[in-house]
Amino acid sequence: MGQPQQPDEAEAQAGATADGAGVSGPAAGTGPEVSPPGTAAGRPPLRVGMVGYAFMGAAHSQGWRTAGRVFDLPRSPVLAAICGRDATAVRAAAERHGWASTETDWRALIARDDIDLVDICTPGDSHAEIALAALAAGKHVLCEKPLANSVEEAEAMAGAAEQAYERGQLAMVGFNYRRVPATALARSMVADGRLGRLRHVRVTYLQDWLVDPQFPLTWRLRKELAGSGALGDLGAHIIDLAQYLAGERLSGVSALTETFVRERPLPGGAVKGLSAVSAESATGLVTVDDAAVFTGRFPSGALASFEATRYATGRKNALRIELNGERGSIAFDLERLNELSYHDGIEPGAHAGFRRILVTEPDHPYLDAWWPPGHGLGYEHTFVHQARDLVHAIAEGRQPEPSFADGLHVQRVLAAVEESAEKNSVYTPIAV
Ligand SMILES: NC(=O)c1ccc[n+]([C@@H]2O[C@H](COP(=O)([O-])OP(=O)(O)OC[C@H]3O[C@@H](n4cnc5c(N)ncnc54)[C@H](O)[C@@H]3O)[C@@H](O)[C@H]2O)c1
Repeated sequence: MGQPQQPDEAEAQAGATADGAGVSGPAAGTGPEVSPPGTAAGRPPLRVGMVGYAFMGAAHSQGWRTAGRVFDLPRSPVLAAICGRDATAVRAAAERHGWASTETDWRALIARDDIDLVDICTPGDSHAEIALAALAAGKHVLCEKPLANSVEEAEAMAGAAEQAYERGQLAMVGFNYRRVPATALARSMVADGRLGRLRHVRVTYLQDWLVDPQFPLTWRLRKELAGSGALGDLGAHIIDLAQYLAGERLSGVSALTETFVRERPLPGGAVKGLSAVSAESATGLVTVDDAAVFTGRFPSGALASFEATRYATGRKNALRIELNGERGSIAFDLERLNELSYHDGIEPGAHAGFRRILVTEPDHPYLDAWWPPGHGLGYEHTFVHQARDLVHAIAEGRQPEPSFADGLHVQRVLAAVEESAEKNSVYTPIAV
């Protein structure tokens, strides 16, 4: 597992700001021509075609739109085409998010010669089919998490990505929480040995949008669409983040899962992000877990614990991770994402203790291209950083992380958690 990708010194764009001010030129007719916003003259374009235009579609659009305006990229992302099944809705999404054209069938998108990269922002049931077709058609691929809905699909995707790499095509999974400056800083501190030998990795990812039993049966509650419930949705993120920060992969787990509400009203209209309204009467069965709690082992001997739930009343998007090592500890809370807590265990006990690092300095990961110290970033910036890192990897022809192989391992952990939970929490080994 690699180091966080640090922005280059050269990426501090003189005068450029996040909303594009400073990259625009003089008024029309009064000076030399300027490049369209977000592109740079002389840089080859990277023409993106995105499938899905709702929650992640909006977040990824923001990433592609902004990355080239903030960072000095070797290729200029171009929002070439967006794809959805409803022609009117996808046109509206294109207009809102700044895409140049639309498609209503992802196969048509992939067949286009003017698309270099396919960005998959659909539910898990279509990830494998779209990614395999895109790789076969010679495209680079960014695929949202979890990589797939089963280990078999993920194996096929990782195999195809490995072969595509030989042809110069790259594939990456959208585990965006690696791209919070504070988590990237935490990774470099662990890799630098500041925690020493790791003993514990403790992670929770808590949401509460299912507490109401009348919340409708959206795709996230149907196994055939989502693969699994809180496990694949939230658990996949914390498995990846734990492994990324620890610098090693889990070798086994012991798990409990539960579905607290087994029947819910069908959705009565459009689903927006995590919100939806119920139909009057019809109901359907919930076929995924509502919560997953599991422990795990790392090959180094470190122990890990995980909790993923959508029933943590009052908790909105509480991803918290703490690592304890022989020399020190680190703690991160996504709801305070500009901060990292660090305890240096080497300091004399009299004045040792956790201290808050405000991760907004120009020498922190990604931050030399953003705002002055103390002017914090948020959730959406992780998607800008994701786009930035992928563009660099493509321009340099090197494997981006997390790779499809990393996504496959997460998928194996998810499967092992389900297997363990079905077998009374028996410890279930995972091939590393
Ligand atoms: N990285 C993160 O933080 C994060 C957050 C939320 C969701 N996700 C992941 O992103 C993916 C999408 O989730 P979402 O929250 O954006 O879902 P969503 O329901 O908000 O959007 C899904 C989109 O996919 C479209 N779609 C579905 N099937 C399609 C098909 N066959 N062809 C074309 N379009 C299709 C829908 O019309 C919709 O536009 C999932 O894999 C999810 O796990 C990641």
